[in-house]
Amino acid sequence: MGSAPDELQQHLLVDIEADAGIVPDATGTATKIQVHRLTKNSDTNEDQTILKAIHLDVPAGVIMGIIGPSGSGKSTLLRALNRLWEPSPGSVFLDGEDISQLDVLSLRRKVGMLFQLPAMFDGTVADNVRFGPQLRGKKLTDAEVQKLLSLADLDPSLASRPASELSVGQAQRVALARTLANNPEVLLLDEPTSALDPISTQNIEEAIVRLKKTQGLTTIMVSHSVKQIQRIADVVCLLVDGEVVEVLEASRLSETQHPMARRFLELS
Ligand SMILES: Nc1ncnc2c1ncn2[C@@H]1O[C@H](COP(=O)(O)OP(=O)(O)OP(=O)(O)O)[C@@H](O)[C@H]1O
Ligand SMILES: [Mg+2]
Repeated sequence: MGSAPDELQQHLLVDIEADAGIVPDATGTATKIQVHRLTKNSDTNEDQTILKAIHLDVPAGVIMGIIGPSGSGKSTLLRALNRLWEPSPGSVFLDGEDISQLDVLSLRRKVGMLFQLPAMFDGTVADNVRFGPQLRGKKLTDAEVQKLLSLADLDPSLASRPASELSVGQAQRVALARTLANNPEVLLLDEPTSALDPISTQNIEEAIVRLKKTQGLTTIMVSHSVKQIQRIADVVCLLVDGEVVEVLEASRLSETQHPMARRFLELS
């Protein structure tokens, strides 16, 4: 289970509903991502607001779990953070910088994303891992590829295997290694283990926790599994109907009084 340092506990006392803007955190804990009044209206149904002026601070170097009912806006929130849709200027900040002002490709290198089902490109595992750096004209050495595979909890000997021959669990870890090849500072994970068996799930979880410990990566993970959140997250954000209704330490999730959070705990 993730353990939250004392500063984090204090950090979470910051009123998430406050009109925070770029207010520095009084505790001194760095905020990696700040979401400020993030709103998303449906493109197809003008009466539907998918995200309703969300505020959220993600402290640097933590694993934040996002839970909430289906359709509550979890994926939409995650996808704003690396501009898979364009949030309004002034609504998402990375290290205090408005992401709408950043070059979108360099933003996506800094803020990498994994989806529920990994998509492998044609070629070998090594070709897949080399993909991102190659776009910038850099060819990773064999040793660098192997190191990235190890970081993703994979056997380096997989490098020469055709990516099409991998199991889904292996492919998800190759997708993780491919993302890590861009040296991200933040990982966005949208139910990355929901298609995996328990052992592959454990492998991914171990890789994510290790990346936090060894590289200081900040991770935001959507999960339907409260048990998974309790195993690896430091802090949990509960999203209901396009609103952040609760942010609390994962170790204290069982103490929540929020009715929807309680339902999640009871049903999982
Ligand atoms: N491109 C889109 N156009 C219109 N509506 C959309 C679009 N994407 C998502 N929505 C709607 O936005 C709401 C939130 O969707 P989202 O995928 O973010 O939910 P979620 O919390 O990730 O759900 P799940 O747990 O099922 O993955 C839903 O009502 C969905 O129908
Ligand atoms: Mg989703």
